[in-house]
Amino acid sequence: MQNLDLFDFQRIPAPLLSWYRANKRTLPWRENPTPYRVWVSEIMLQQTRVEAVKEYYARFMRELPTVEALAACEEEKLLKLWEGLGYYSRARNLQKAAKLLVSVYGGEFPSDIESLKSLPGVGSYTAGAIASIAFGKRVAAVDGNVFRVAARLEENPTPIDKPAYRKYLEETLSAVYPEEGKACAEFTQSLFELGALVCKPQSPDCKNCPLNSLCRANQKGTRALFPVMPEKRGKRQERVGVFLIETPSGFCIRRREEGVLKGMNEFPSALLSEGETPEKILNEWGMSAFTEVKRKKYVHIFTHIRWDIECVWVRAEDAPFDAYALDEIEESISLPTAFKQCLGILK
Ligand code: ADE
Repeated sequence: MQNLDLFDFQRIPAPLLSWYRANKRTLPWRENPTPYRVWVSEIMLQQTRVEAVKEYYARFMRELPTVEALAACEEEKLLKLWEGLGYYSRARNLQKAAKLLVSVYGGEFPSDIESLKSLPGVGSYTAGAIASIAFGKRVAAVDGNVFRVAARLEENPTPIDKPAYRKYLEETLSAVYPEEGKACAEFTQSLFELGALVCKPQSPDCKNCPLNSLCRANQKGTRALFPVMPEKRGKRQERVGVFLIETPSGFCIRRREEGVLKGMNEFPSALLSEGETPEKILNEWGMSAFTEVKRKKYVHIFTHIRWDIECVWVRAEDAPFDAYALDEIEESISLPTAFKQCLGILK
Protein backbone atom coordinates (compact mmCIF):
# COMPACT_ATOMS: atom_id res chain seq x y z
CA MET A 1 0.00 0.00 0.00
CA GLN A 2 1.31 3.38 -0.92
CA ASN A 3 0.82 6.34 1.35
CA LEU A 4 -1.85 8.74 0.37
CA ASP A 5 -3.94 11.50 1.88
CA LEU A 6 -6.56 9.77 3.94
CA PHE A 7 -10.00 9.89 2.41
CA ASP A 8 -12.89 10.21 4.81
CA PHE A 9 -15.04 7.19 3.96
CA GLN A 10 -17.37 8.19 6.78
CA ARG A 11 -18.94 10.60 4.34
CA ILE A 12 -20.24 7.98 1.91
CA PRO A 13 -22.90 5.87 3.67
CA ALA A 14 -25.60 8.55 3.94
CA PRO A 15 -25.70 9.68 0.28
CA LEU A 16 -25.06 6.15 -0.98
CA LEU A 17 -27.88 4.59 1.04
CA SER A 18 -30.41 7.21 -0.16
CA TRP A 19 -29.32 6.64 -3.72
CA TYR A 20 -29.50 2.84 -3.36
CA ARG A 21 -32.99 2.89 -1.91
CA ALA A 22 -34.22 4.90 -4.87
CA ASN A 23 -32.27 3.16 -7.62
CA LYS A 24 -31.64 -0.48 -6.73
CA ARG A 25 -32.44 -3.24 -9.17
CA THR A 26 -34.91 -5.94 -8.34
CA LEU A 27 -32.82 -9.11 -8.24
CA PRO A 28 -33.98 -12.58 -7.22
CA TRP A 29 -31.45 -12.97 -4.39
CA ARG A 30 -32.53 -9.68 -2.87
CA GLU A 31 -35.92 -11.19 -2.03
CA ASN A 32 -35.84 -13.13 1.21
CA PRO A 33 -32.07 -12.82 1.73
CA THR A 34 -31.47 -15.83 3.95
CA PRO A 35 -27.83 -16.87 4.47
CA TYR A 36 -28.32 -19.82 2.13
CA ARG A 37 -29.79 -17.71 -0.65
CA VAL A 38 -27.17 -14.98 -0.28
CA TRP A 39 -24.34 -17.52 -0.21
CA VAL A 40 -25.43 -19.34 -3.37
CA SER A 41 -25.97 -16.06 -5.22
CA GLU A 42 -22.57 -14.68 -4.25
CA ILE A 43 -20.78 -17.85 -5.34
CA MET A 44 -22.61 -17.79 -8.67
CA LEU A 45 -21.87 -14.08 -9.15
CA GLN A 46 -18.14 -14.48 -8.57
CA GLN A 47 -17.16 -15.24 -12.14
CA THR A 48 -20.46 -14.66 -13.89
CA ARG A 49 -22.52 -11.65 -14.92
CA VAL A 50 -25.72 -10.74 -13.09
CA GLU A 51 -27.88 -11.28 -16.16
CA ALA A 52 -26.45 -14.75 -16.76
CA VAL A 53 -26.83 -15.74 -13.13
CA LYS A 54 -30.53 -14.87 -12.77
CA GLU A 55 -31.89 -17.93 -14.55
CA TYR A 56 -29.42 -20.37 -13.03
CA TYR A 57 -30.18 -19.00 -9.63
CA ALA A 58 -33.94 -19.39 -9.97
CA ARG A 59 -33.56 -22.98 -11.14
CA PHE A 60 -31.04 -23.82 -8.44
CA MET A 61 -33.31 -22.47 -5.73
CA ARG A 62 -36.28 -24.37 -7.12
CA GLU A 63 -34.38 -27.65 -7.18
CA LEU A 64 -32.31 -27.17 -4.03
CA PRO A 65 -34.17 -24.74 -1.78
CA THR A 66 -32.29 -25.58 1.42
CA VAL A 67 -28.79 -26.33 2.57
CA GLU A 68 -29.97 -29.85 3.43
CA ALA A 69 -31.20 -30.38 -0.13
CA LEU A 70 -27.86 -29.20 -1.50
CA ALA A 71 -25.93 -31.44 0.89
CA ALA A 72 -27.97 -34.49 -0.17
CA CYS A 73 -27.94 -33.78 -3.90
CA GLU A 74 -26.38 -36.31 -6.29
CA GLU A 75 -23.16 -34.85 -7.67
CA GLU A 76 -24.29 -35.48 -11.22
CA LYS A 77 -27.46 -33.51 -10.66
CA LEU A 78 -25.56 -30.66 -9.05
CA LEU A 79 -23.14 -30.42 -11.95
CA LYS A 80 -26.05 -30.42 -14.35
CA LEU A 81 -27.60 -27.48 -12.49
CA TRP A 82 -24.26 -25.73 -12.84
CA GLU A 83 -23.71 -26.73 -16.45
CA GLY A 84 -22.67 -23.74 -18.54
CA LEU A 85 -21.69 -21.57 -15.58
CA GLY A 86 -18.14 -22.89 -15.66
CA TYR A 87 -15.65 -23.05 -12.81
CA TYR A 88 -17.14 -26.28 -11.57
CA SER A 89 -15.03 -26.32 -8.47
CA ARG A 90 -17.43 -23.65 -7.22
CA ALA A 91 -20.27 -26.18 -7.32
CA ARG A 92 -18.20 -28.89 -5.66
CA ASN A 93 -17.16 -26.49 -2.92
CA LEU A 94 -20.76 -25.42 -2.40
CA GLN A 95 -21.71 -28.99 -1.75
CA LYS A 96 -18.72 -29.66 0.48
CA ALA A 97 -19.63 -26.62 2.51
CA ALA A 98 -23.30 -27.64 2.61
CA LYS A 99 -22.36 -31.05 4.02
CA LEU A 100 -20.26 -29.35 6.67
CA LEU A 101 -23.04 -26.93 7.50
CA VAL A 102 -25.40 -29.85 8.00
CA SER A 103 -23.03 -32.09 9.93
CA VAL A 104 -21.23 -29.50 12.05
CA TYR A 105 -23.67 -26.58 12.31
CA GLY A 106 -27.01 -28.42 12.27
CA GLY A 107 -27.91 -26.80 8.96
CA GLU A 108 -27.66 -23.26 10.35
CA PHE A 109 -25.12 -20.81 9.01
CA PRO A 110 -22.70 -19.34 11.52
CA SER A 111 -22.78 -15.55 11.53
CA ASP A 112 -19.19 -14.84 12.52
CA ILE A 113 -16.67 -14.10 9.83
CA GLU A 114 -14.06 -16.62 10.87
CA SER A 115 -16.47 -19.57 10.85
CA LEU A 116 -17.85 -18.44 7.51
CA LYS A 117 -14.36 -18.18 6.07
CA SER A 118 -13.58 -21.70 7.19
CA LEU A 119 -16.19 -23.07 4.77
CA PRO A 120 -14.84 -24.44 1.49
CA GLY A 121 -14.98 -21.83 -1.26
CA VAL A 122 -15.77 -18.97 1.12
CA GLY A 123 -13.15 -16.24 1.22
CA SER A 124 -13.26 -12.86 2.89
CA TYR A 125 -15.43 -11.40 0.13
CA THR A 126 -18.16 -14.05 0.34
CA ALA A 127 -17.99 -14.15 4.13
CA GLY A 128 -18.43 -10.38 4.24
CA ALA A 129 -21.37 -10.55 1.86
CA ILE A 130 -23.16 -13.24 3.91
CA ALA A 131 -22.42 -11.53 7.24
CA SER A 132 -23.63 -8.11 6.11
CA ILE A 133 -26.45 -8.97 3.72
CA ALA A 134 -27.96 -11.93 5.56
CA PHE A 135 -27.00 -11.14 9.16
CA GLY A 136 -26.89 -7.33 9.05
CA LYS A 137 -23.35 -7.23 10.41
CA ARG A 138 -20.92 -4.37 10.00
CA VAL A 139 -18.57 -6.16 7.63
CA ALA A 140 -17.52 -5.05 4.17
CA ALA A 141 -17.46 -7.31 1.13
CA VAL A 142 -14.81 -6.08 -1.27
CA ASP A 143 -15.24 -7.23 -4.86
CA GLY A 144 -14.14 -5.64 -8.13
CA ASN A 145 -17.01 -3.13 -8.02
CA VAL A 146 -16.04 -1.98 -4.56
CA PHE A 147 -12.36 -1.67 -5.45
CA ARG A 148 -13.31 0.49 -8.42
CA VAL A 149 -15.58 2.82 -6.45
CA ALA A 150 -13.14 3.18 -3.55
CA ALA A 151 -10.01 3.54 -5.68
CA ARG A 152 -11.62 6.39 -7.63
CA LEU A 153 -12.95 8.13 -4.51
CA GLU A 154 -9.49 8.42 -3.01
CA GLU A 155 -7.35 8.10 -6.15
CA ASN A 156 -5.67 5.10 -4.64
CA PRO A 157 -2.69 4.09 -6.80
CA THR A 158 -2.23 0.62 -5.26
CA PRO A 159 -2.76 -2.26 -7.70
CA ILE A 160 -5.88 -4.11 -6.62
CA ASP A 161 -4.17 -7.50 -6.41
CA LYS A 162 -2.09 -6.38 -3.43
CA PRO A 163 -3.38 -8.27 -0.37
CA ALA A 164 -2.58 -5.26 1.84
CA TYR A 165 -4.91 -3.11 -0.23
CA ARG A 166 -7.80 -5.53 0.19
CA LYS A 167 -7.17 -5.67 3.92
CA TYR A 168 -7.00 -1.88 4.19
CA LEU A 169 -10.25 -1.48 2.28
CA GLU A 170 -12.06 -4.18 4.25
CA GLU A 171 -11.06 -2.52 7.50
CA THR A 172 -11.64 1.05 6.39
CA LEU A 173 -15.06 0.36 4.93
CA SER A 174 -16.19 -1.91 7.77
CA ALA A 175 -15.42 0.93 10.17
CA VAL A 176 -17.94 3.25 8.49
CA TYR A 177 -20.79 0.75 8.22
CA PRO A 178 -24.15 1.92 9.55
CA GLU A 179 -25.60 0.40 12.69
CA GLU A 180 -26.21 -3.35 12.65
CA GLY A 181 -29.26 -4.50 10.74
CA LYS A 182 -30.85 -3.92 7.39
CA ALA A 183 -28.80 -0.79 6.66
CA CYS A 184 -25.62 -2.92 6.63
CA ALA A 185 -27.18 -5.22 4.05
CA GLU A 186 -28.10 -2.18 2.01
CA PHE A 187 -24.70 -0.56 2.34
CA THR A 188 -22.87 -3.62 1.02
CA GLN A 189 -25.23 -3.85 -1.92
CA SER A 190 -25.17 -0.11 -2.55
CA LEU A 191 -21.44 -0.36 -3.23
CA PHE A 192 -22.00 -3.25 -5.68
CA GLU A 193 -24.85 -1.35 -7.25
CA LEU A 194 -22.95 1.91 -7.67
CA GLY A 195 -20.08 0.02 -9.29
CA ALA A 196 -22.41 -1.85 -11.63
CA LEU A 197 -24.74 1.01 -12.65
CA VAL A 198 -22.80 4.26 -12.29
CA CYS A 199 -19.11 3.87 -11.48
CA LYS A 200 -18.63 1.55 -14.43
CA PRO A 201 -15.20 0.43 -15.63
CA GLN A 202 -15.40 2.19 -18.98
CA SER A 203 -17.71 5.17 -19.17
CA PRO A 204 -18.66 6.03 -15.60
CA ASP A 205 -21.76 8.20 -15.26
CA CYS A 206 -20.26 10.70 -12.85
CA LYS A 207 -22.97 13.30 -13.46
CA ASN A 208 -25.50 10.98 -11.85
CA CYS A 209 -23.28 9.70 -9.06
CA PRO A 210 -24.39 10.41 -5.49
CA LEU A 211 -20.73 10.65 -4.47
CA ASN A 212 -19.49 12.90 -7.26
CA SER A 213 -18.84 15.89 -5.00
CA LEU A 214 -16.60 13.74 -2.78
CA CYS A 215 -14.79 11.83 -5.50
CA ARG A 216 -11.21 12.87 -6.14
CA ALA A 217 -11.00 11.11 -9.50
CA ASN A 218 -14.11 12.96 -10.62
CA GLN A 219 -12.77 16.28 -9.39
CA LYS A 220 -9.42 15.78 -11.09
CA GLY A 221 -10.66 14.02 -14.20
CA THR A 222 -8.52 10.97 -13.45
CA ARG A 223 -11.25 8.36 -13.27
CA ALA A 224 -9.80 6.36 -16.19
CA LEU A 225 -6.59 5.83 -14.21
CA PHE A 226 -8.32 4.04 -11.31
CA PRO A 227 -8.43 1.38 -10.12
CA VAL A 228 -4.88 0.36 -10.95
CA MET A 229 -5.10 -3.16 -12.33
CA PRO A 230 -2.51 -5.88 -11.70
CA GLU A 231 0.27 -6.08 -14.23
CA LYS A 232 -0.71 -8.47 -16.97
CA ARG A 233 1.36 -11.59 -16.68
CA GLY A 234 0.76 -12.80 -20.19
CA LYS A 235 2.36 -16.11 -19.27
CA ARG A 236 1.03 -19.55 -19.87
CA GLN A 237 0.62 -21.31 -16.58
CA GLU A 238 1.34 -25.00 -16.23
CA ARG A 239 1.15 -27.40 -13.33
CA VAL A 240 4.09 -29.72 -13.32
CA GLY A 241 4.75 -32.76 -11.16
CA VAL A 242 8.47 -33.23 -10.50
CA PHE A 243 9.52 -36.49 -8.88
CA LEU A 244 12.53 -37.09 -6.73
CA ILE A 245 12.57 -40.85 -6.99
CA GLU A 246 15.09 -42.21 -4.53
CA THR A 247 16.31 -45.74 -5.18
CA PRO A 248 19.14 -47.65 -3.48
CA SER A 249 21.51 -46.32 -6.13
CA GLY A 250 20.46 -42.70 -5.95
CA PHE A 251 17.96 -40.32 -7.50
CA CYS A 252 16.46 -40.79 -10.95
CA ILE A 253 17.41 -38.40 -13.68
CA ARG A 254 16.42 -38.48 -17.32
CA ARG A 255 16.70 -36.33 -20.41
CA ARG A 256 13.76 -34.18 -21.42
CA GLU A 257 12.38 -35.27 -24.75
CA GLU A 258 10.08 -32.38 -25.48
CA GLY A 259 8.72 -28.99 -24.50
CA VAL A 260 10.60 -26.23 -22.76
CA LEU A 261 14.14 -27.29 -21.72
CA LYS A 262 14.06 -30.09 -24.27
CA GLY A 263 17.31 -32.04 -24.20
CA MET A 264 18.20 -30.99 -20.67
CA ASN A 265 18.39 -33.24 -17.65
CA GLU A 266 15.50 -33.36 -15.29
CA PHE A 267 14.13 -35.14 -12.34
CA PRO A 268 11.38 -37.09 -14.09
CA SER A 269 8.48 -34.71 -14.56
CA ALA A 270 5.14 -34.45 -16.27
CA LEU A 271 2.57 -31.80 -16.96
CA LEU A 272 -0.46 -32.27 -14.74
CA SER A 273 -3.84 -31.67 -16.24
CA GLU A 274 -6.54 -30.02 -14.16
CA GLY A 275 -7.26 -32.06 -11.06
CA GLU A 276 -4.63 -34.69 -11.91
CA THR A 277 -2.63 -35.92 -8.97
CA PRO A 278 1.12 -36.56 -9.12
CA GLU A 279 0.62 -40.13 -7.89
CA LYS A 280 -1.23 -40.96 -11.06
CA ILE A 281 1.87 -40.11 -13.08
CA LEU A 282 3.98 -42.54 -11.07
CA ASN A 283 1.44 -45.25 -11.78
CA GLU A 284 1.58 -44.41 -15.46
CA TRP A 285 5.33 -44.93 -15.32
CA GLY A 286 4.65 -48.43 -14.01
CA MET A 287 5.60 -47.68 -10.43
CA SER A 288 3.35 -49.22 -7.85
CA ALA A 289 5.59 -49.86 -4.83
CA PHE A 290 6.85 -46.56 -3.47
CA THR A 291 6.55 -44.58 -0.31
CA GLU A 292 6.13 -40.87 -0.25
CA VAL A 293 8.60 -39.03 1.96
CA LYS A 294 7.60 -35.42 1.45
CA ARG A 295 6.10 -32.98 -1.02
CA LYS A 296 6.60 -29.31 -1.59
CA LYS A 297 5.43 -26.65 -4.01
CA TYR A 298 7.69 -24.44 -6.06
CA VAL A 299 7.20 -21.83 -8.74
CA HIS A 300 9.51 -21.40 -11.66
CA ILE A 301 9.11 -18.53 -14.10
CA PHE A 302 10.26 -18.88 -17.69
CA THR A 303 9.96 -16.02 -20.17
CA HIS A 304 6.61 -17.20 -21.44
CA ILE A 305 5.56 -19.86 -18.99
CA ARG A 306 4.97 -20.06 -15.31
CA TRP A 307 5.39 -23.49 -13.80
CA ASP A 308 3.55 -24.32 -10.63
CA ILE A 309 5.59 -27.28 -9.52
CA GLU A 310 4.45 -29.99 -7.17
CA CYS A 311 7.61 -31.73 -6.15
CA VAL A 312 7.16 -35.20 -4.66
CA TRP A 313 9.96 -37.15 -3.03
CA VAL A 314 9.37 -40.89 -3.00
CA ARG A 315 11.44 -43.95 -2.13
CA ALA A 316 11.28 -47.08 -4.27
CA GLU A 317 13.31 -50.26 -4.75
CA ASP A 318 13.07 -50.02 -8.53
CA ALA A 319 12.42 -47.23 -10.95
CA PRO A 320 12.05 -46.99 -14.72
CA PHE A 321 14.89 -44.42 -15.06
CA ASP A 322 18.61 -44.35 -14.36
CA ALA A 323 19.61 -43.24 -10.89
CA TYR A 324 22.63 -41.30 -9.71
CA ALA A 325 24.15 -40.67 -6.34
CA LEU A 326 23.32 -37.29 -4.87
CA ASP A 327 26.99 -36.25 -4.81
CA GLU A 328 27.25 -36.95 -8.49
CA ILE A 329 24.07 -35.03 -9.25
CA GLU A 330 25.28 -32.04 -7.31
CA GLU A 331 28.77 -32.13 -8.70
CA SER A 332 28.66 -33.31 -12.26
CA ILE A 333 25.16 -33.47 -13.69
CA SER A 334 23.69 -30.31 -15.15
CA LEU A 335 20.20 -29.59 -13.98
CA PRO A 336 18.19 -26.53 -14.92
CA THR A 337 17.19 -24.34 -11.98
CA ALA A 338 13.57 -25.33 -12.38
CA PHE A 339 14.59 -28.83 -11.24
CA LYS A 340 17.58 -28.03 -9.13
CA GLN A 341 15.47 -26.02 -6.70
CA CYS A 342 13.58 -29.21 -5.97
CA LEU A 343 16.63 -30.50 -4.15
CA GLY A 344 15.55 -28.10 -1.42
CA ILE A 345 12.98 -30.70 -0.41
CA LEU A 346 15.80 -32.96 0.83
CA LYS A 347 16.94 -30.45 3.43
N1 ADE B 1 -22.22 -8.68 -7.62
C1 ADE B 1 -21.75 -9.42 -6.62
N2 ADE B 1 -22.68 -9.57 -5.66
C2 ADE B 1 -23.77 -8.91 -6.07
C3 ADE B 1 -25.04 -8.69 -5.52
N3 ADE B 1 -25.37 -9.23 -4.35
N4 ADE B 1 -25.91 -7.95 -6.23
C4 ADE B 1 -25.55 -7.43 -7.41
N5 ADE B 1 -24.38 -7.61 -7.97
C5 ADE B 1 -23.48 -8.34 -7.32
